[in-house]
Amino acid sequence: MSPMFVPGPVDVADEVLQAQARAMLPHRSKEFETIYKDTAERAQQLFYTKQRVFITASSGTGLQEAAIRNFVSKKVLCCVNGAFADRWFEVAVYNGKEADELSFEWDEPVNPDRVAEAVKAGNYEAVTIVHNETSTGLQNPVKEIADAVHTAAPDTLILVDAVSSLAGAKLEMDAWGLDMVLTSSQKCLALPPGLALGAVSERAMKKAEKVENRGWYFDLVRMEKHRLKDSSPATPAMSLIFALEYQLERIFQEGLENRFARHSAMAKRVQEWAEANDQSIYAPEGYRSQTVTTIRNERGIDISSLNNFLKEHDMRIANGYGQLKNKTFRIAHMGETQMSDIDELLKAMEAYLKQ
Ligand SMILES: Cc1ncc(COP(=O)(O)O)c(C=O)c1O
Repeated sequence: MSPMFVPGPVDVADEVLQAQARAMLPHRSKEFETIYKDTAERAQQLFYTKQRVFITASSGTGLQEAAIRNFVSKKVLCCVNGAFADRWFEVAVYNGKEADELSFEWDEPVNPDRVAEAVKAGNYEAVTIVHNETSTGLQNPVKEIADAVHTAAPDTLILVDAVSSLAGAKLEMDAWGLDMVLTSSQKCLALPPGLALGAVSERAMKKAEKVENRGWYFDLVRMEKHRLKDSSPATPAMSLIFALEYQLERIFQEGLENRFARHSAMAKRVQEWAEANDQSIYAPEGYRSQTVTTIRNERGIDISSLNNFLKEHDMRIANGYGQLKNKTFRIAHMGETQMSDIDELLKAMEAYLKQ
């Protein structure tokens, strides 16, 4: 495996790739339905939830859209402090909802008091929050935000994007009272792209029943009816589900807490390296991502040239995202990445900087 330090799609272990190579089954067969059901139930542990988990043949954005279509008739508040939070806001706008953007500087966390103020005043059905902003390497204080919303507007649903954190950083859906948590397969789960997983609370499902125009493909009420019969309305991405079934086994073998600790240790190592090399971290202390570090490009590194150098050593990092391109660069430390990979990368980066 040649390590890719980009925040998705990440490297997939050979044995996980192989798990996809199983023969197809009829998707309405008992054999497949058992795998589908067991896999979704095992995935609950990733979310720290006893609530249902839907597995969709889409990337994470599909479930961002599902969240808006199913839980919002009219008004939604979108907390925005990065590119993917901004995308969720856009998804709400493009779906014709009355979406209000509560914006923050991109190098600042979403502030729970400001969210509380907004939901108190706004009569919102739901609030959207990105847990781990992959563009900025900033982890938002979701628990504190959820606490603030529960107090200020208890009926407002809390929808969380954990696309680049679930299975890499702890997020406790039930204990924190979250209504939907969604993720994609190609990040911390270290699977190929193409699957999204979303856990949904009981009260959110009740709300969905009253929302009109939920669409068809991402209608969670329809999906729930099928889920209760261990199936799905449309053909599932079977090979990816075989891979997910296999990968969950590997993840639980490592242990979630060990997995989080590994991610956190790698993040610390990268942060210390950046600071020791005269480059600061984009996200403020206390809110730094465990899964991807965004570094301010204060040494004016030519990122394409750095990546060409790294590719000669079978590695690559990511440029800054969107408006942060070239002003920052990103080193992902998620999924299968080990500390020894990080050490190798940082050694190569030092060699480049010394040139
Ligand atoms: C935080 C976050 N949310 C949403 C997305 C979109 O996910 P996908 O590309 O799986 O649709 C990404 C993709 O990088 C992301 O990092």
